[in-house]
Amino acid sequence: MKPVKLGVNIDHVATLRQARLTRYPEPVHAALVAEQAGADSITVHLREDRRHIQERDVEMLKDVLTIPINLEMAVTDEMLALAETYKPEYCCFVPERREELTTEGGLEVIGQQERIREACARLQANGSRVSLFIDADAGQIDAAVNAGADMIEIHTGHYADSDSPETQDMEFNKIVRAVEHAAGTPLQINAGHGLHYHNVKPVAAIEQVAELNIGHSIIARAVFSGLYQAVKDMKTLMDEARW
Ligand code: PXP
Repeated sequence: MKPVKLGVNIDHVATLRQARLTRYPEPVHAALVAEQAGADSITVHLREDRRHIQERDVEMLKDVLTIPINLEMAVTDEMLALAETYKPEYCCFVPERREELTTEGGLEVIGQQERIREACARLQANGSRVSLFIDADAGQIDAAVNAGADMIEIHTGHYADSDSPETQDMEFNKIVRAVEHAAGTPLQINAGHGLHYHNVKPVAAIEQVAELNIGHSIIARAVFSGLYQAVKDMKTLMDEARW
């Protein structure tokens, strides 16, 4: 079995910096430490309100990283133009609402296939591979295929936030069924949101999942263990889940 890759989301290093509008902590520093600790890619979400990651972060990351950058973005004209400028290796389309604490649900692909198809084609022509962050739903997966996406990222937030073991089992089964459905398509299957050290293993164990994107729990653990160790610990759990 192949190892599952880890994309480390460093948004919350920038959250800490923006809380005081200081020059530290530096997200680029975090990305380099994560890379050394074994991260396979670095994810940043350049939000419309610029609450954490700023354009200069994306620009600097693009200059220094040797692993791929995954730019999470809303499907807006502004963000599409920025993605064309920065040419990240991966772009992940996410829904975005200003008032949300974090990305709350998957992208509605079925209802806006034409728009998403155009956006995918535009960024693919610019050299990026495009991923769609979607709920664990066969209809959305089929729509992602029709829209020409290269990858999907299955939203694991409902599984992660479940308030009872029964609900968690139910949400997990939805993820498994969605992965089985997507495995019959050309899409690369990623997953993420809300994953932490105590819930990552079942998702990491799903063989067809290529990469997990994890942010908040890793940055939170880094406060106590340091980022290098926090990334290593997550990688170890993910490897243990496979073998
Ligand atoms: N994947 C997507 C599409 C996201 O929007 C986020 C949060 O920015 C993550 C993964 C990472 O989620 P978390 O910070 O809960 O690990």
